Amino acid sequence: MDYGKLAPGGRFWTILASCLPDTNGTLEMAERILIFDTTLRDGEQSPGASMNIEEKLRIARQLERLRVDVIEAGFPIASVGDFESVREVARHVRECSIAGLARARFEDIDRAWEALSGAADPRIHTFIATSPIHRRHKLGMDQDQVLEAAVAAVRRAVRYTANVEWSAEDAGRTELEFLSRIVEAVIAAGARTVNIPDTVGYTLPEEFGARIAWLMNHVDNIHEAVISVHCHNDLGLAVANSLAAVAHGARQVECTINGLGERAGNAALEEVVMALRTRHDHPAFNALETRIETTEIIRTSKLVSAITGFPVQPNKAIVGANAFAHESGIHQDGVLKEVTTYEIMTPESVGLATNRMVLGKHSGRHAFKERLKELGYELDDQQLDRSFRRFKGLADMKQELFDEDIRALVDDEVIREDDHYRLVKLHVVSGMQDTPMAAVGIQAGSETILEATRSGVGPIDAVFQAIHHLIPEAGEARLNLYQVSAVTGGLDAQAVVTVRLEQGARLVQGQGADNDVIVASARAFINALNKLVCRDHLPHNGV
Ligand code: KIV
Ligand code: ZN
Repeated sequence: MDYGKLAPGGRFWTILASCLPDTNGTLEMAERILIFDTTLRDGEQSPGASMNIEEKLRIARQLERLRVDVIEAGFPIASVGDFESVREVARHVRECSIAGLARARFEDIDRAWEALSGAADPRIHTFIATSPIHRRHKLGMDQDQVLEAAVAAVRRAVRYTANVEWSAEDAGRTELEFLSRIVEAVIAAGARTVNIPDTVGYTLPEEFGARIAWLMNHVDNIHEAVISVHCHNDLGLAVANSLAAVAHGARQVECTINGLGERAGNAALEEVVMALRTRHDHPAFNALETRIETTEIIRTSKLVSAITGFPVQPNKAIVGANAFAHESGIHQDGVLKEVTTYEIMTPESVGLATNRMVLGKHSGRHAFKERLKELGYELDDQQLDRSFRRFKGLADMKQELFDEDIRALVDDEVIREDDHYRLVKLHVVSGMQDTPMAAVGIQAGSETILEATRSGVGPIDAVFQAIHHLIPEAGEARLNLYQVSAVTGGLDAQAVVTVRLEQGARLVQGQGADNDVIVASARAFINALNKLVCRDHLPHNGV
Protein backbone atom coordinates (compact mmCIF):
# COMPACT_ATOMS: atom_id res chain seq x y z
CA MET A 1 0.00 0.00 0.00
CA ASP A 2 1.01 3.51 -0.69
CA TYR A 3 0.99 5.48 2.56
CA GLY A 4 1.29 8.88 1.13
CA LYS A 5 2.98 10.99 -1.39
CA LEU A 6 6.01 12.96 -0.42
CA ALA A 7 5.20 16.46 -1.59
CA PRO A 8 7.94 19.03 -2.40
CA GLY A 9 7.94 20.46 1.13
CA GLY A 10 9.06 17.07 2.44
CA ARG A 11 5.67 16.49 4.03
CA PHE A 12 3.46 13.44 3.85
CA TRP A 13 0.10 13.91 2.26
CA THR A 14 -2.67 11.43 2.28
CA ILE A 15 -3.21 9.32 -0.76
CA LEU A 16 -4.33 10.92 -3.96
CA ALA A 17 -6.92 8.37 -4.88
CA SER A 18 -8.07 9.20 -8.37
CA CYS A 19 -9.38 11.90 -10.60
CA LEU A 20 -13.08 12.67 -10.13
CA PRO A 21 -15.11 14.87 -12.44
CA ASP A 22 -16.58 17.82 -10.53
CA THR A 23 -20.02 19.27 -11.22
CA ASN A 24 -18.64 21.35 -14.12
CA GLY A 25 -17.27 18.21 -15.74
CA THR A 26 -13.65 19.18 -15.07
CA LEU A 27 -11.31 16.79 -13.31
CA GLU A 28 -10.21 17.30 -9.75
CA MET A 29 -8.00 15.16 -7.58
CA ALA A 30 -9.86 13.16 -4.94
CA GLU A 31 -8.23 12.42 -1.64
CA ARG A 32 -8.62 8.94 -0.19
CA ILE A 33 -10.34 8.29 3.11
CA LEU A 34 -8.81 5.09 4.40
CA ILE A 35 -11.22 2.60 5.90
CA PHE A 36 -9.73 0.65 8.80
CA ASP A 37 -11.98 -2.21 9.80
CA THR A 38 -11.72 -3.47 13.37
CA THR A 39 -14.62 -5.97 13.37
CA LEU A 40 -12.19 -8.78 14.15
CA ARG A 41 -10.59 -6.95 17.07
CA ASP A 42 -12.81 -4.28 18.67
CA GLY A 43 -15.91 -5.95 17.21
CA GLU A 44 -14.93 -9.24 18.76
CA GLN A 45 -14.76 -7.49 22.13
CA SER A 46 -18.58 -7.33 22.14
CA PRO A 47 -19.60 -9.78 24.86
CA GLY A 48 -20.62 -12.99 23.10
CA ALA A 49 -19.09 -12.14 19.72
CA SER A 50 -15.97 -14.27 19.98
CA MET A 51 -15.04 -16.08 16.79
CA ASN A 52 -12.74 -18.95 15.95
CA ILE A 53 -9.95 -18.83 13.40
CA GLU A 54 -12.00 -20.12 10.45
CA GLU A 55 -14.77 -17.64 11.16
CA LYS A 56 -12.31 -14.76 11.37
CA LEU A 57 -10.73 -15.84 8.13
CA ARG A 58 -14.11 -15.94 6.38
CA ILE A 59 -14.88 -12.44 7.56
CA ALA A 60 -11.40 -11.21 6.61
CA ARG A 61 -11.80 -12.61 3.08
CA GLN A 62 -15.14 -10.85 2.78
CA LEU A 63 -13.58 -7.59 4.06
CA GLU A 64 -11.01 -8.00 1.31
CA ARG A 65 -13.85 -8.24 -1.24
CA LEU A 66 -15.35 -5.16 0.34
CA ARG A 67 -11.98 -3.51 -0.29
CA VAL A 68 -11.29 -2.08 3.14
CA ASP A 69 -7.81 -0.59 3.35
CA VAL A 70 -6.80 -2.07 6.69
CA ILE A 71 -8.09 -5.09 8.60
CA GLU A 72 -7.27 -5.11 12.29
CA ALA A 73 -7.20 -8.87 12.72
CA GLY A 74 -6.72 -9.10 16.48
CA PHE A 75 -4.57 -8.52 19.52
CA PRO A 76 -1.85 -11.16 19.17
CA ILE A 77 -0.61 -11.19 22.77
CA ALA A 78 -4.15 -11.55 24.19
CA SER A 79 -4.42 -15.31 23.57
CA VAL A 80 -3.07 -18.12 21.45
CA GLY A 81 -6.32 -18.01 19.46
CA ASP A 82 -5.86 -14.31 18.73
CA PHE A 83 -2.25 -14.82 17.70
CA GLU A 84 -3.14 -17.67 15.34
CA SER A 85 -6.01 -15.76 13.78
CA VAL A 86 -3.87 -12.71 13.08
CA ARG A 87 -1.23 -14.99 11.55
CA GLU A 88 -3.77 -16.79 9.35
CA VAL A 89 -5.42 -13.58 8.18
CA ALA A 90 -1.97 -12.10 7.47
CA ARG A 91 -1.09 -15.17 5.40
CA HIS A 92 -4.25 -15.36 3.34
CA VAL A 93 -5.48 -11.82 2.80
CA ARG A 94 -3.13 -10.05 0.39
CA GLU A 95 -5.09 -7.03 -0.84
CA CYS A 96 -5.44 -5.20 2.49
CA SER A 97 -2.98 -4.04 5.07
CA ILE A 98 -3.25 -6.31 8.16
CA ALA A 99 -2.91 -4.73 11.58
CA GLY A 100 -2.28 -6.33 14.97
CA LEU A 101 -2.84 -4.48 18.24
CA ALA A 102 -0.15 -4.11 20.90
CA ARG A 103 0.01 -2.23 24.19
CA ALA A 104 3.01 0.05 24.69
CA ARG A 105 5.10 -2.91 25.83
CA PHE A 106 7.97 -4.50 23.99
CA GLU A 107 6.65 -8.05 24.47
CA ASP A 108 3.30 -7.03 22.90
CA ILE A 109 5.01 -5.40 19.94
CA ASP A 110 7.37 -8.33 19.37
CA ARG A 111 4.47 -10.77 19.55
CA ALA A 112 2.39 -8.64 17.18
CA TRP A 113 5.21 -8.68 14.67
CA GLU A 114 5.61 -12.43 15.00
CA ALA A 115 1.94 -12.80 13.99
CA LEU A 116 2.05 -10.15 11.26
CA SER A 117 5.34 -10.71 9.52
CA GLY A 118 3.84 -12.94 6.79
CA ALA A 119 1.42 -10.23 5.66
CA ALA A 120 1.74 -8.49 2.30
CA ASP A 121 1.46 -5.18 4.13
CA PRO A 122 1.76 -5.60 7.93
CA ARG A 123 0.89 -2.81 10.33
CA ILE A 124 1.77 -2.68 14.03
CA HIS A 125 -0.86 -0.74 15.98
CA THR A 126 0.37 0.27 19.39
CA PHE A 127 -1.58 2.27 21.96
CA ILE A 128 -1.47 3.77 25.42
CA ALA A 129 -4.09 5.68 27.40
CA THR A 130 -3.50 9.43 27.58
CA SER A 131 -6.43 10.92 29.53
CA PRO A 132 -5.99 12.07 33.14
CA ILE A 133 -8.56 9.51 34.35
CA HIS A 134 -6.75 6.62 32.69
CA ARG A 135 -3.28 7.89 33.63
CA ARG A 136 -4.20 8.21 37.28
CA HIS A 137 -6.48 5.23 37.87
CA LYS A 138 -5.39 2.68 35.31
CA LEU A 139 -1.73 3.29 34.56
CA GLY A 140 -0.48 5.16 37.64
CA MET A 141 1.70 7.24 35.31
CA ASP A 142 2.15 10.97 34.79
CA GLN A 143 2.17 12.73 31.41
CA ASP A 144 5.91 12.42 30.90
CA GLN A 145 5.94 8.72 31.71
CA VAL A 146 3.09 8.07 29.26
CA LEU A 147 4.88 10.07 26.57
CA GLU A 148 8.12 8.20 27.17
CA ALA A 149 6.36 4.81 26.97
CA ALA A 150 4.53 5.81 23.77
CA VAL A 151 7.72 6.96 22.05
CA ALA A 152 9.62 3.84 23.15
CA ALA A 153 6.79 1.63 21.80
CA VAL A 154 6.76 3.40 18.44
CA ARG A 155 10.56 3.17 18.17
CA ARG A 156 10.38 -0.55 18.93
CA ALA A 157 7.68 -1.07 16.28
CA VAL A 158 9.55 0.96 13.66
CA ARG A 159 12.43 -1.52 13.96
CA TYR A 160 10.10 -4.04 12.31
CA THR A 161 8.11 -1.94 9.82
CA ALA A 162 7.56 1.64 8.72
CA ASN A 163 3.83 0.95 8.80
CA VAL A 164 3.24 1.87 12.44
CA GLU A 165 0.03 3.24 13.89
CA TRP A 166 -0.13 4.79 17.33
CA SER A 167 -3.35 5.40 19.30
CA ALA A 168 -4.06 7.70 22.23
CA GLU A 169 -6.63 5.69 24.15
CA ASP A 170 -9.34 8.01 25.58
CA ALA A 171 -8.03 10.89 23.47
CA GLY A 172 -11.55 12.36 23.59
CA ARG A 173 -10.98 13.21 27.27
CA THR A 174 -7.28 14.08 27.08
CA GLU A 175 -5.94 17.63 27.71
CA LEU A 176 -5.38 19.21 24.27
CA GLU A 177 -1.94 20.55 25.19
CA PHE A 178 -0.73 17.12 26.25
CA LEU A 179 -2.43 15.43 23.28
CA SER A 180 -0.58 17.75 20.88
CA ARG A 181 2.73 17.15 22.64
CA ILE A 182 2.45 13.35 22.57
CA VAL A 183 1.17 13.27 18.97
CA GLU A 184 4.14 15.34 17.84
CA ALA A 185 6.53 13.05 19.74
CA VAL A 186 5.18 9.78 18.30
CA ILE A 187 5.23 11.17 14.77
CA ALA A 188 8.83 12.22 15.32
CA ALA A 189 9.52 8.66 16.56
CA GLY A 190 8.15 7.24 13.28
CA ALA A 191 4.38 6.68 13.62
CA ARG A 192 2.88 7.04 10.14
CA THR A 193 -0.73 6.88 11.35
CA VAL A 194 -1.92 8.62 14.50
CA ASN A 195 -5.28 7.53 15.81
CA ILE A 196 -7.47 9.74 18.00
CA PRO A 197 -10.07 7.52 19.65
CA ASP A 198 -13.17 8.62 21.47
CA THR A 199 -12.82 5.46 23.53
CA VAL A 200 -15.82 6.03 25.78
CA GLY A 201 -18.12 7.68 23.21
CA TYR A 202 -18.28 10.86 25.27
CA THR A 203 -17.68 13.68 22.81
CA LEU A 204 -20.17 15.57 20.65
CA PRO A 205 -19.57 15.99 16.91
CA GLU A 206 -18.69 19.69 17.15
CA GLU A 207 -16.24 19.08 19.98
CA PHE A 208 -14.64 16.10 18.33
CA GLY A 209 -14.26 17.91 15.00
CA ALA A 210 -12.70 20.85 16.87
CA ARG A 211 -10.27 18.45 18.59
CA ILE A 212 -9.05 17.22 15.19
CA ALA A 213 -8.85 20.81 13.88
CA TRP A 214 -6.77 21.76 16.95
CA LEU A 215 -4.29 18.97 16.27
CA MET A 216 -4.09 19.88 12.58
CA ASN A 217 -3.25 23.46 13.58
CA HIS A 218 -1.00 22.93 16.61
CA VAL A 219 1.15 19.91 15.83
CA ASP A 220 4.09 20.98 13.67
CA ASN A 221 4.75 17.61 12.04
CA ILE A 222 1.06 16.55 11.74
CA HIS A 223 1.27 16.23 7.92
CA GLU A 224 3.87 13.53 8.26
CA ALA A 225 1.16 11.14 9.46
CA VAL A 226 -2.35 10.13 8.47
CA ILE A 227 -4.77 11.25 11.16
CA SER A 228 -7.22 8.53 12.07
CA VAL A 229 -10.30 8.45 14.28
CA HIS A 230 -11.91 5.62 16.22
CA CYS A 231 -15.26 6.52 17.77
CA HIS A 232 -17.41 4.51 20.14
CA ASN A 233 -21.17 4.74 20.13
CA ASP A 234 -22.14 5.16 23.80
CA LEU A 235 -24.25 8.24 22.98
CA GLY A 236 -25.16 7.07 19.48
CA LEU A 237 -22.73 9.60 17.97
CA ALA A 238 -19.90 7.42 16.66
CA VAL A 239 -20.68 7.96 12.97
CA ALA A 240 -21.47 11.67 13.42
CA ASN A 241 -18.19 12.16 15.33
CA SER A 242 -16.22 10.28 12.67
CA LEU A 243 -17.70 12.43 9.90
CA ALA A 244 -17.02 15.63 11.87
CA ALA A 245 -13.40 14.49 12.21
CA VAL A 246 -13.14 13.84 8.47
CA ALA A 247 -14.51 17.33 7.79
CA HIS A 248 -11.60 18.70 9.85
CA GLY A 249 -8.79 16.68 8.32
CA ALA A 250 -8.94 13.07 9.54
CA ARG A 251 -8.11 10.74 6.65
CA GLN A 252 -8.61 7.32 8.19
CA VAL A 253 -11.81 6.12 9.87
CA GLU A 254 -11.80 3.08 12.13
CA CYS A 255 -15.10 1.25 12.12
CA THR A 256 -16.81 -2.11 12.26
CA ILE A 257 -19.44 -3.94 10.26
CA ASN A 258 -22.92 -3.41 11.73
CA GLY A 259 -21.31 -1.12 14.34
CA LEU A 260 -20.22 -4.14 16.40
CA GLY A 261 -17.82 -3.42 19.26
CA GLU A 262 -17.12 -2.86 22.92
CA ARG A 263 -20.30 -1.81 24.86
CA ALA A 264 -22.54 0.18 22.44
CA GLY A 265 -20.13 -0.56 19.62
CA ASN A 266 -18.00 1.37 17.15
CA ALA A 267 -18.85 3.60 14.20
CA ALA A 268 -20.66 1.44 11.63
CA LEU A 269 -18.53 1.07 8.50
CA GLU A 270 -21.54 0.93 6.19
CA GLU A 271 -22.93 4.19 7.58
CA VAL A 272 -19.64 6.09 7.36
CA VAL A 273 -18.98 4.91 3.81
CA MET A 274 -22.49 5.53 2.49
CA ALA A 275 -22.67 8.95 4.19
CA LEU A 276 -19.44 10.00 2.48
CA ARG A 277 -20.68 8.67 -0.84
CA THR A 278 -24.26 9.94 -0.67
CA ARG A 279 -23.23 13.39 0.60
CA HIS A 280 -20.43 13.78 -1.85
CA ASP A 281 -22.18 17.04 -2.77
CA HIS A 282 -21.28 18.51 0.64
CA PRO A 283 -18.28 20.88 0.49
CA ALA A 284 -16.55 18.98 3.33
CA PHE A 285 -16.72 15.68 1.46
CA ASN A 286 -16.75 16.44 -2.25
CA ALA A 287 -13.06 15.92 -2.83
CA LEU A 288 -12.96 12.68 -0.82
CA GLU A 289 -13.53 9.07 -1.70
CA THR A 290 -13.09 5.61 -0.21
CA ARG A 291 -12.14 2.56 -2.22
CA ILE A 292 -14.98 0.47 -0.74
CA GLU A 293 -16.93 -1.80 -3.10
CA THR A 294 -20.29 -0.75 -1.69
CA THR A 295 -22.21 -3.53 -3.44
CA GLU A 296 -20.55 -5.96 -0.99
CA ILE A 297 -21.95 -4.17 2.07
CA ILE A 298 -25.11 -6.24 2.62
CA ARG A 299 -23.29 -9.49 2.10
CA THR A 300 -20.62 -8.52 4.64
CA SER A 301 -23.25 -7.40 7.14
CA LYS A 302 -25.12 -10.71 6.84
CA LEU A 303 -21.95 -12.74 7.21
CA VAL A 304 -20.90 -10.90 10.37
CA SER A 305 -24.39 -11.20 11.80
CA ALA A 306 -24.57 -14.93 11.07
CA ILE A 307 -21.12 -15.67 12.48
CA THR A 308 -21.45 -13.60 15.65
CA GLY A 309 -25.13 -14.32 16.23
CA PHE A 310 -25.77 -10.59 16.61
CA PRO A 311 -28.95 -9.79 14.67
CA VAL A 312 -29.23 -6.54 12.75
CA GLN A 313 -32.20 -4.48 13.91
CA PRO A 314 -34.75 -4.07 11.07
CA ASN A 315 -34.56 -0.26 11.07
CA LYS A 316 -30.73 -0.14 11.16
CA ALA A 317 -29.41 2.38 8.62
CA ILE A 318 -28.12 0.90 5.35
CA VAL A 319 -28.24 -2.81 6.29
CA GLY A 320 -31.50 -3.22 8.24
CA ALA A 321 -34.23 -5.29 6.57
CA ASN A 322 -36.42 -2.16 6.37
CA ALA A 323 -33.72 0.28 5.27
CA PHE A 324 -35.11 0.35 1.73
CA ALA A 325 -38.71 -0.69 2.42
CA HIS A 326 -41.49 1.81 1.82
CA GLU A 327 -44.57 1.05 3.86
CA SER A 328 -46.82 4.09 3.83
CA GLY A 329 -49.11 4.56 0.84
CA ILE A 330 -47.89 8.12 0.28
CA HIS A 331 -44.27 6.95 0.19
CA GLN A 332 -45.03 4.02 -2.11
CA ASP A 333 -46.90 6.33 -4.44
CA GLY A 334 -43.98 8.76 -4.47
CA VAL A 335 -41.41 6.04 -5.13
CA LEU A 336 -43.45 4.59 -7.97
CA LYS A 337 -43.65 8.03 -9.60
CA GLU A 338 -40.01 8.96 -9.02
CA VAL A 339 -37.74 6.83 -6.88
CA THR A 340 -35.67 9.75 -5.57
CA THR A 341 -38.72 11.17 -3.77
CA TYR A 342 -37.97 8.89 -0.83
CA GLU A 343 -34.71 7.12 -1.70
CA ILE A 344 -31.38 8.91 -1.24
CA MET A 345 -29.36 5.91 -2.41
CA THR A 346 -30.29 2.82 -4.37
CA PRO A 347 -30.66 -0.61 -2.77
CA GLU A 348 -28.42 -1.98 -5.54
CA SER A 349 -25.59 0.37 -4.49
CA VAL A 350 -25.26 -1.53 -1.19
CA GLY A 351 -25.76 -4.92 -2.80
CA LEU A 352 -29.31 -5.55 -1.75
CA ALA A 353 -30.47 -8.64 -3.66
CA THR A 354 -32.64 -7.59 -6.52
CA ASN A 355 -34.54 -10.87 -6.29
CA ARG A 356 -33.24 -11.96 -9.65
CA MET A 357 -33.89 -15.64 -10.21
CA VAL A 358 -30.50 -17.08 -11.03
CA LEU A 359 -30.61 -20.83 -11.37
CA GLY A 360 -33.26 -23.51 -11.36
CA LYS A 361 -33.62 -27.27 -11.12
CA HIS A 362 -32.51 -27.75 -14.71
CA SER A 363 -29.23 -25.91 -14.19
CA GLY A 364 -26.18 -28.12 -14.53
CA ARG A 365 -22.96 -28.41 -12.54
CA HIS A 366 -21.12 -26.14 -14.94
CA ALA A 367 -23.65 -23.29 -14.64
CA PHE A 368 -23.60 -23.73 -10.87
CA LYS A 369 -19.78 -23.54 -10.80
CA GLU A 370 -19.76 -20.45 -13.02
CA ARG A 371 -22.30 -18.70 -10.79
CA LEU A 372 -20.19 -19.53 -7.74
CA LYS A 373 -17.18 -17.99 -9.42
CA GLU A 374 -19.15 -14.81 -10.10
CA LEU A 375 -20.14 -14.75 -6.43
CA GLY A 376 -16.50 -14.97 -5.40
CA TYR A 377 -16.32 -18.64 -4.30
CA GLU A 378 -13.42 -20.88 -5.22
CA LEU A 379 -14.38 -24.40 -4.17
CA ASP A 380 -12.32 -27.56 -4.48
CA ASP A 381 -13.92 -30.56 -6.24
CA GLN A 382 -15.24 -32.15 -3.07
CA GLN A 383 -16.79 -28.94 -1.80
CA LEU A 384 -18.32 -28.36 -5.21
CA ASP A 385 -19.81 -31.87 -5.32
CA ARG A 386 -21.37 -31.52 -1.89
CA SER A 387 -22.71 -28.04 -2.62
CA PHE A 388 -24.10 -29.08 -5.99
CA ARG A 389 -25.90 -32.05 -4.44
CA ARG A 390 -27.55 -29.74 -1.93
CA PHE A 391 -28.34 -27.22 -4.62
CA LYS A 392 -30.19 -29.89 -6.62
CA GLY A 393 -32.13 -30.95 -3.52
CA LEU A 394 -33.09 -27.35 -2.81
CA ALA A 395 -34.01 -26.67 -6.43
CA ASP A 396 -36.45 -29.60 -6.32
CA MET A 397 -38.27 -28.01 -3.43
CA LYS A 398 -37.95 -24.29 -4.01
CA GLN A 399 -39.48 -22.66 -7.05
CA GLU A 400 -37.02 -19.82 -7.45
CA LEU A 401 -33.38 -19.80 -6.43
CA PHE A 402 -31.60 -16.51 -5.80
CA ASP A 403 -27.97 -15.61 -5.24
CA GLU A 404 -28.73 -15.41 -1.53
CA ASP A 405 -29.90 -19.04 -1.54
CA ILE A 406 -26.71 -20.18 -3.18
CA ARG A 407 -24.54 -18.21 -0.79
CA ALA A 408 -26.37 -19.58 2.26
CA LEU A 409 -26.03 -23.13 1.01
CA VAL A 410 -22.36 -22.91 0.10
CA ASP A 411 -21.45 -20.99 3.27
CA ASP A 412 -23.21 -23.70 5.22
CA GLU A 413 -21.07 -26.38 3.55
CA VAL A 414 -17.87 -24.44 4.05
CA ILE A 415 -18.39 -23.63 7.75
CA ARG A 416 -18.85 -27.23 8.78
CA GLU A 417 -15.98 -28.52 6.73
CA ASP A 418 -13.72 -29.20 9.72
CA ASP A 419 -16.51 -30.44 11.97
CA HIS A 420 -15.87 -33.89 13.43
CA TYR A 421 -19.58 -34.49 14.04
CA ARG A 422 -22.13 -34.10 11.23
CA LEU A 423 -25.86 -34.54 11.00
CA VAL A 424 -26.84 -37.47 8.78
CA LYS A 425 -30.36 -38.39 9.94
CA LEU A 426 -33.23 -36.56 11.53
CA HIS A 427 -36.81 -37.56 12.19
CA VAL A 428 -39.09 -35.42 14.30
CA VAL A 429 -42.60 -35.94 15.64
CA SER A 430 -44.41 -32.94 17.01
CA GLY A 431 -47.85 -31.44 17.21
CA MET A 432 -50.64 -30.55 19.62
CA GLN A 433 -51.48 -34.13 20.50
CA ASP A 434 -47.97 -35.61 20.50
CA THR A 435 -45.04 -35.48 22.86
CA PRO A 436 -42.27 -33.96 20.73
CA MET A 437 -39.72 -36.65 19.85
CA ALA A 438 -36.55 -36.55 17.79
CA ALA A 439 -34.52 -39.40 16.36
CA VAL A 440 -31.08 -38.15 15.36
CA GLY A 441 -28.15 -39.76 13.57
CA ILE A 442 -24.75 -38.11 13.52
CA GLN A 443 -21.55 -39.20 11.91
CA ALA A 444 -18.41 -39.02 14.02
CA GLY A 445 -15.31 -38.63 11.86
CA SER A 446 -15.42 -40.57 8.63
CA GLU A 447 -17.24 -43.72 9.74
CA THR A 448 -19.13 -44.22 12.98
CA ILE A 449 -22.81 -43.35 12.95
CA LEU A 450 -24.30 -42.58 16.36
CA GLU A 451 -28.03 -42.58 16.92
CA ALA A 452 -30.30 -41.44 19.74
CA THR A 453 -33.97 -40.66 20.34
CA ARG A 454 -35.11 -38.14 22.90
CA SER A 455 -38.27 -36.26 23.84
CA GLY A 456 -38.42 -32.58 24.73
CA VAL A 457 -40.73 -29.68 25.52
CA GLY A 458 -40.78 -28.87 21.82
CA PRO A 459 -39.25 -30.33 18.64
CA ILE A 460 -36.11 -28.19 18.83
CA ASP A 461 -35.58 -29.14 22.47
CA ALA A 462 -35.99 -32.82 21.58
CA VAL A 463 -33.46 -32.51 18.75
CA PHE A 464 -30.94 -30.69 20.96
CA GLN A 465 -31.37 -33.25 23.77
CA ALA A 466 -30.69 -36.13 21.40
CA ILE A 467 -27.65 -34.45 19.86
CA HIS A 468 -26.20 -33.48 23.21
CA HIS A 469 -26.61 -37.06 24.40
CA LEU A 470 -24.50 -38.22 21.44
CA ILE A 471 -21.67 -35.73 22.09
CA PRO A 472 -21.17 -35.97 25.87
CA GLU A 473 -17.57 -34.76 25.70
CA ALA A 474 -18.87 -31.30 24.81
CA GLY A 475 -19.84 -31.09 28.51
CA GLU A 476 -22.63 -29.06 30.05
CA ALA A 477 -23.44 -25.90 28.11
CA ARG A 478 -26.15 -23.30 28.42
CA LEU A 479 -28.06 -22.19 25.32
CA ASN A 480 -27.49 -18.46 25.33
CA LEU A 481 -29.04 -17.55 21.97
CA TYR A 482 -31.22 -19.23 19.38
CA GLN A 483 -31.90 -17.12 16.32
CA VAL A 484 -33.64 -17.87 13.05
CA SER A 485 -33.60 -15.69 9.97
CA ALA A 486 -34.94 -16.21 6.48
CA VAL A 487 -32.45 -16.01 3.61
CA THR A 488 -35.03 -14.61 1.18
CA GLY A 489 -38.72 -13.77 1.24
CA GLY A 490 -41.43 -16.35 0.63
CA LEU A 491 -42.80 -19.32 2.56
CA ASP A 492 -40.27 -21.64 0.92
CA ALA A 493 -37.29 -19.51 2.04
CA GLN A 494 -34.24 -21.22 3.52
CA ALA A 495 -33.69 -20.65 7.23
CA VAL A 496 -30.34 -19.70 8.75
CA VAL A 497 -30.13 -20.60 12.41
CA THR A 498 -27.51 -19.30 14.83
CA VAL A 499 -27.07 -20.76 18.30
CA ARG A 500 -24.73 -19.50 20.99
CA LEU A 501 -23.61 -21.84 23.78
CA GLU A 502 -22.02 -20.77 27.03
CA GLN A 503 -19.71 -23.00 29.02
CA GLY A 504 -17.96 -21.23 31.89
CA ALA A 505 -15.96 -18.41 30.32
CA ARG A 506 -16.35 -19.89 26.84
CA LEU A 507 -18.92 -18.74 24.33
CA VAL A 508 -19.25 -20.44 20.97
CA GLN A 509 -21.55 -19.84 18.02
CA GLY A 510 -22.85 -22.37 15.55
CA GLN A 511 -24.71 -21.86 12.28
CA GLY A 512 -26.85 -24.01 10.09
CA ALA A 513 -28.88 -23.41 6.96
CA ASP A 514 -31.60 -25.49 5.36
CA ASN A 515 -35.05 -25.09 3.90
CA ASP A 516 -36.27 -27.09 6.94
CA VAL A 517 -35.88 -24.94 10.04
CA ILE A 518 -35.48 -27.98 12.32
CA VAL A 519 -32.67 -29.40 10.19
CA ALA A 520 -31.02 -25.95 10.15
CA SER A 521 -31.33 -25.84 13.96
CA ALA A 522 -29.77 -29.30 14.36
CA ARG A 523 -26.88 -28.31 12.08
CA ALA A 524 -26.31 -25.10 14.02
CA PHE A 525 -26.31 -26.92 17.36
CA ILE A 526 -23.88 -29.58 16.13
CA ASN A 527 -21.64 -26.88 14.66
CA ALA A 528 -21.48 -25.16 18.08
CA LEU A 529 -20.84 -28.43 19.95
CA ASN A 530 -17.98 -29.21 17.55
CA LYS A 531 -16.38 -25.96 18.67
CA LEU A 532 -16.78 -26.84 22.33
CA VAL A 533 -15.13 -30.19 21.72
CA CYS A 534 -12.34 -28.61 19.73
CA ARG A 535 -10.27 -26.72 22.29
CA ASP A 536 -8.76 -24.18 19.88
CA HIS A 537 -11.78 -21.99 20.54
CA LEU A 538 -10.34 -20.24 23.58
CA PRO A 539 -12.01 -17.46 25.53
CA HIS A 540 -11.13 -14.07 24.16
CA ASN A 541 -9.17 -11.66 26.25
CA GLY A 542 -9.61 -8.12 24.88
CA VAL A 543 -8.08 -4.72 25.64
O1 KIV B 1 -11.38 2.44 21.84
C1 KIV B 1 -10.13 2.51 21.84
O2 KIV B 1 -9.51 3.44 22.34
C2 KIV B 1 -9.41 1.39 21.23
C3 KIV B 1 -7.95 1.57 21.06
C4 KIV B 1 -7.20 0.35 21.46
C5 KIV B 1 -7.65 2.00 19.66
O3 KIV B 1 -10.01 0.42 20.82
ZN1 ZN C 1 -12.19 0.88 20.58
